[in-house]
Amino acid sequence: METPWLEICTLDSIPLRGCRLVQSPRGQIALFRTAADEVFALDNRCPHKGGPLSEGIVHGRLVTCPLHNWVIDLENGRATGADEGCTRKFAVRLDEGRVYLRV
Ligand code: FES
Repeated sequence: METPWLEICTLDSIPLRGCRLVQSPRGQIALFRTAADEVFALDNRCPHKGGPLSEGIVHGRLVTCPLHNWVIDLENGRATGADEGCTRKFAVRLDEGRVYLRV
């Protein structure tokens, strides 16, 4: 059976070019909202040393980790550039201004 979609919040409750944290049985999930109103969900742990990505700067479809400035691709959780590593991503669905997650 497929994991159900869970309604989490409204799009408006996530700051534009910002993040909202969600607690889940699998730890903290960071919901990012881009300037284009896309939403992505990643584990709130940088693949480098576990920095809180939710406190990073969102630019385009990327977030810069606040600890050592690694740049993480919001679409797949991967470190960009010369850095290597990947944080877990979660499926997100937007429907009429509501955000759904599959955890
Ligand atoms: S913990 Fe994120 S860049 Fe080091």
